[in-house]
Order: sequence, then structure tokens, then C-alpha cells
Amino acid sequence: MYKIYCLNNISPEGLALLTDNYEVIENIDEADAILVRSADMHEMEVPANLKAVARAGAGVNNIPLDKFAEAGIAVFNTPGANANAVKELVLAGMLLASRDIIGGVAWVRDNADDENVGKAAEKAKKQFAGGEILGKTLGVIGLGAIGKLVAQSAEALGMKVIGYDPAMDEITVHEQISPTVEFADLPKVLKESDFITIHVPALPATKGMINADAIAQMKDGVVFLNFSRDVLVDDAAMAEALASGKVAAYVTDFANPAVVKMERAIVIPHLGASTAEAEDNCAKMAVEEIMAYLERGEKIHCVNM
Ligand code: MLT
Repeated sequence: MYKIYCLNNISPEGLALLTDNYEVIENIDEADAILVRSADMHEMEVPANLKAVARAGAGVNNIPLDKFAEAGIAVFNTPGANANAVKELVLAGMLLASRDIIGGVAWVRDNADDENVGKAAEKAKKQFAGGEILGKTLGVIGLGAIGKLVAQSAEALGMKVIGYDPAMDEITVHEQISPTVEFADLPKVLKESDFITIHVPALPATKGMINADAIAQMKDGVVFLNFSRDVLVDDAAMAEALASGKVAAYVTDFANPAVVKMERAIVIPHLGASTAEAEDNCAKMAVEEIMAYLERGEKIHCVNM
């Protein structure tokens, strides 16, 4: 009997896949495997029998990968399982940044007691007007599971898409994503895009990659979207770019003390993967990975060994 501990809430649809060989336990010290979402495991004491950790999600920066590898503990993630949920929020982010929908909705709430709110709204609305995304250029940095869906949906909405991914080549992008996505290097994506969205993991090489130098290469009035991790963006450089108008809006899924105070930042509380569908998909994939590893030694989406 294998003992499974859930460090965060894990969708019951995923846990239902566990066979009679498994018991979900309350005491972490006895765990053979841990299912986790975003709980930070870096400072955690490691259970003596722990053999595997499965992250129900893509990012694994909450898990000490090297430390666990040295201890023989395999770590898995669930790439793609929440990609559609994140893609949908990226599209929403582009629309929220294109028109002042948030300001407009707040105005209506503020005028809720006005009997003539309809008339007043017609007068007030010009201050919330904006632009359309049709015909605009979207730069996608990172063309993995999420970047791919964002690129395809943006094209379907009539945007021109330029994509950059150091792990891909033009033929693969045209075959697996879209023949009309322009495959480019990073400087071209930065220079030619009206909207830029980043979909890369937080690694030493990607931390702070959107710094003052990168921002300087962007178009004036660009909209930047970050649904990956906050550490990819240099907050001080972004604050300066927002203040000067160089960046028209920064849409981020990561609240931190710096971004919440930035003017023209649209800060979302990490809702990218928070849909019932994504939570089910991630939990099911994570449970299947754990069972395949514990029972057959199969390393499906293992990220540290
Ligand atoms: C991910 O890494 O999969 C997303 O950021 C969502 C999450 O952290 O759960």
C-alpha cells in the first residue's frame, strides 16, 4: 500500500484515479508520494520514505529539484494540463489592457445610486474608450504548451503573431503551431510587437530577462503580459516604463508589493490555472504520473532526473 499526502487541495477527480493500492494520508511523515500545487517545499523537512512529488501544474519553482534529485526523489509536473485555462486568461488580459473595461465597470459601481445612471454613462463612456486587437501584432516569448495555444487563438482573432523560442526552429513552429506564425529572434519580437506575452519557466537564465534593456527595445505604448512568473520581469524597470508611458499596460498574474502599486498595472491574483477544468486535468495527470512511477518506475514528465 502506497501512502499519498496532499500538500494542497487536489481535485477529487484526480484522487479518484488512485487504486486500492493507495491510501491518502493525513500525516506527511509517512508519505511515499506528495501531490502539491503551489505550496513552497524549499524549507520543508523531507519525509523519510518519500519517493516522488507530483506538481499539479507546470511551474516547479516551489520545489527544490536538485535537493530532491540527490535524495533520489523524483519530481513530476503536468505540462499542458492547464494550458487552455492560462490561454483564456491571457486573451482576457489583452482585452482588459486594450480598453478601460476595469475603469468603466468601476465607474458604473460608483454611480449605482444615480437614477439617471444610463444617461450619465453615455456621457462618461468616452474616458474608457480604447483600441481593438484585430490587426495588431502579438509577440509570444516561449512557444510551449501555453504559448502555442495563445499564438493560435490570437491568429484566430485576427492578430499577426511573431514567436520566439530558443528550443524550437521555424519548421517545427510552422508544422506544430501555425504556418503563419512568424518565427523570429527575441530582438525582433521585442521591437515589432504591440502586445508581448511571455511563457517561459523561471530559471536562472530567464530571471529578470525583461529588464530595462529589453524594455528599451520595445515599441512605445506596448502592452506586456506576464502569466508565467513575476521574477521574469525586473519590477523597477517595469515601474519606470509604466510611469514614462513606454509600456502602456503591464498585465501580470503575480501580485507582489512592487506591482500592486504600479500605475497602469493590471494585477491578477494568480488565477491563470484556477478553473475547475484545469484543476481536474492537472490532478489526473499528476496522479497518473505518481502511479506509473511507483508501480513501474516510469518517469513521465519527470523534471529532475
Ligand atoms: C502553473 O505553473 O501551472 C501555473 O502558474 C498555475 C499554478 O501555479 O497552479
